[in-house]
Amino acid sequence: MNILLLGSGGREHALAWKMAQSATQRVVTRRVKKLDKLFIAPGNAGTSDYGENVSLSPTDFTAVKKFVIEKAINMVVVGPEEPLVKGIHDFFLKDNELKNIPVIGPDAKGAQLEGSKDFSKQFMIKYGIPTAKYQTFTKENISEAFSFLEVLSPPYVLKADGLAAGKGVVIPNTIDEAKKELENMLLNSRFGASSAKVVIEEFLKGIELSVFVLSDGKSYKILPEAKDYKRIGEGDTGLNTGGMGAVSPVPFADKTFMKKVEERIIIPTVKGLKKENIVYKGFLFIGLIKVAGDPFVIEYNCRMGDPETEVVIPRIKSDILDLFEGVATQTLSKKKIEFDERTAVTVMLVSGGYPGDYEKGKVITGLDSVENSIPFHAGSAKKDGQIVTNGGRVIAITSYGNTMQEALKKSFANAEKINYEGKYYRKDIGRDLS
Ligand code: AMP
Ligand code: GLY
Repeated sequence: MNILLLGSGGREHALAWKMAQSATQRVVTRRVKKLDKLFIAPGNAGTSDYGENVSLSPTDFTAVKKFVIEKAINMVVVGPEEPLVKGIHDFFLKDNELKNIPVIGPDAKGAQLEGSKDFSKQFMIKYGIPTAKYQTFTKENISEAFSFLEVLSPPYVLKADGLAAGKGVVIPNTIDEAKKELENMLLNSRFGASSAKVVIEEFLKGIELSVFVLSDGKSYKILPEAKDYKRIGEGDTGLNTGGMGAVSPVPFADKTFMKKVEERIIIPTVKGLKKENIVYKGFLFIGLIKVAGDPFVIEYNCRMGDPETEVVIPRIKSDILDLFEGVATQTLSKKKIEFDERTAVTVMLVSGGYPGDYEKGKVITGLDSVENSIPFHAGSAKKDGQIVTNGGRVIAITSYGNTMQEALKKSFANAEKINYEGKYYRKDIGRDLS
C-alpha cells in the first residue's frame, strides 16, 4: 500500500514512525506487507527518515489529487484539521478518480465538530453530552452578549466560532476585560472571520485531559488518554502554546472515570454523529475537564492532538495500518487493538521567544547522541546538510518508563543533549500528577 500522510509536525512524525513499522511487521492472518511507500507532505527533517517528503500544501487539493494519481497512492492520512475542515475528504468522495481512495479523517460536516464551536455546542446539547452552559452571539446581538456576561461569574470564557490556530479562546478575569475582548472579537475581527460568531460559556474549574477515539462511522476504538501541558511557563503559567509536553496514561483517569467518559460522552457522540448522517472516519479528540469526578467536554477536535500523539501512538502496540484499513472498510469492530502498559511522556523543546516571535534556522546538534528516547521532530528542516529549527515547537522527546518518573528522567536527560540557540523546555512536565 502506498500512503500519503499530510502534515509537518510532531504528530505527523509519530504517525510516520508508527506506519513505517507496518513495513516490517507481517500481519499473521493475511501475510501481507502493508506499507510499500510512504510520502509525507510537506513533512519535516524527522519524517524523511520514514518516507519521502513532498513539497505539497495539504490544503491544495488539486495538487494533492495530481500527486495521488501520479504515485498510485492507496490511502491518505490527514494529520491537521485545516484540510479536513476545508473538505478534503468530500473532495475525494466527489471525484471519480479519487472516490475509492480512502481518506483517514472525517468529512467537512464531521470536521465541523472542530471547525465551528457553535456547531459542536449545539451537537452536545442535542445529544445530552455534558458541557459548560453557553450562548452564541454575533455583532447584531452584542448587547445581549453583554447581558449574558453579567449573569455569569468570572472568569469568562470567550471562544471564536471558527478555526484560529489554537488561539481562539480567551479567558478574561473581569467583566470589563470580557466586554472589551468581546468587542474586539465581534466588532474588530480579532480572529478574522473566525470571530464573527463568538461562543460565551461558563468557566469550569477542574483538571483537563484528552481522550482519543478512532472511528469508522459504525464502531469505535478508544485509544490511550493523555494530558498535555499548554502554557509556556512552569506551574502552567504564561501564554498558551500548542503544547509543551504530554503524558499517557493519566493517573486521575481511572477505570470509574473512563467508564463515565465512555457512557456519557463517547457513546452519545458516536450515536449523535450517526443521527446527523455523518459517517465519521478518522480520529476524534475529545478535550475533557474533570469536575468533582465527572467529565465535561471542553472541545472536540477532528484529528489527533499534538503533542498528545507523541505519547498516544507509541502506546499502541497494534499495527496502525491494519486499524486504518478497518476505518476505510468499516470493519474496525473486527480489529484487535492492544496497548503498551508502560507510561509514555514527551517533553517539547521550543524556540526562544515562542509562543511569541522567534527565529528559525538555528542549527540543531546532539540528535545522534539521544539514547533511550525517541526525538519526534515538531518543527525542523534540512538545510545545507544540517538539521535546523523551523518552527516554534522543535523536537518532542518521547520516552517510555515503568513509572512516569522513569520516563521523564530519560526525556529530560536527552533534552540536555539536544542543543540549538534559544532552546527552552518545561522541566515540570508531569509534576502535578505525581
Ligand atoms: P479550546 O481551544 O476549546 O481547547 O480551549 C482552550 C483552553 O481554554 C482549554 O484547554 C481550557 O484550558 C480552556 N477552556 C476552554 N473552555 C473552558 C471552560 N468552559 N472552562 C474552563 N476552561 C476552559
Ligand atoms: N495539544 C492540543 C491540540 O493538539 O489541540
